[in-house]
Amino acid sequence: MKDIVKTTGPATQREFRDALGRFATGVTLVTAEGPEGAAGFVANSFASVSLDPPLVLWSPARRSARFDIFVSAPRYAIHVLGVEQFALIARFARGGPGFDGLAHERTPEGVPVIPGALARFDCRQVACHDGGDHCIILGHVERFVLRDGAPLVFSQGAYGGFVHGG
Ligand SMILES: Cc1cc2nc3c(=O)[nH]c(=O)nc-3n(C[C@H](O)[C@H](O)[C@H](O)COP(=O)(O)O)c2cc1C
Repeated sequence: MKDIVKTTGPATQREFRDALGRFATGVTLVTAEGPEGAAGFVANSFASVSLDPPLVLWSPARRSARFDIFVSAPRYAIHVLGVEQFALIARFARGGPGFDGLAHERTPEGVPVIPGALARFDCRQVACHDGGDHCIILGHVERFVLRDGAPLVFSQGAYGGFVHGG
């Protein structure tokens, strides 16, 4: 099969997104307490950064209606979603009910959290770096929670599960 070669620019933005989408990721739900209550943000830009100190990052888009809530939150939680938590994506999409009617708890610091995630990282924001049309939020992980299970996987606009190979 022949490779397609493109130069980045306005005319190839769609193809650039498609190329980025070839990178399969997990799916996270980032939660924080905003001025109007509990808020959530579905993000696949999560990445581990450092073990010592324990640092992780994620990147909200500046144009997101929820951008200010998450950039301003001193504390937040990143939930790594399990495959059976697929419905949370629609719940936290634009116009979805979000936390309305959803069972949740609070960390001792007051961050809203959802039970049942494959892993959860309770973070304190340590930096917010410029990332073009996104902002790179770096968090110090103060607490983490984990369980066994299969991750929800996202690639090329579609969702799937992960099959463990030998
Ligand atoms: C699987 C998935 C991953 C996403 N990852 C990100 C992300 O890392 N950063 C981001 O800014 N938006 C991401 N989004 C989009 C946001 O979740 C949200 O839908 C978007 O910001 C528009 O919502 P809002 O303007 O109401 O905040 C992702 C959406 C999906 C479905």
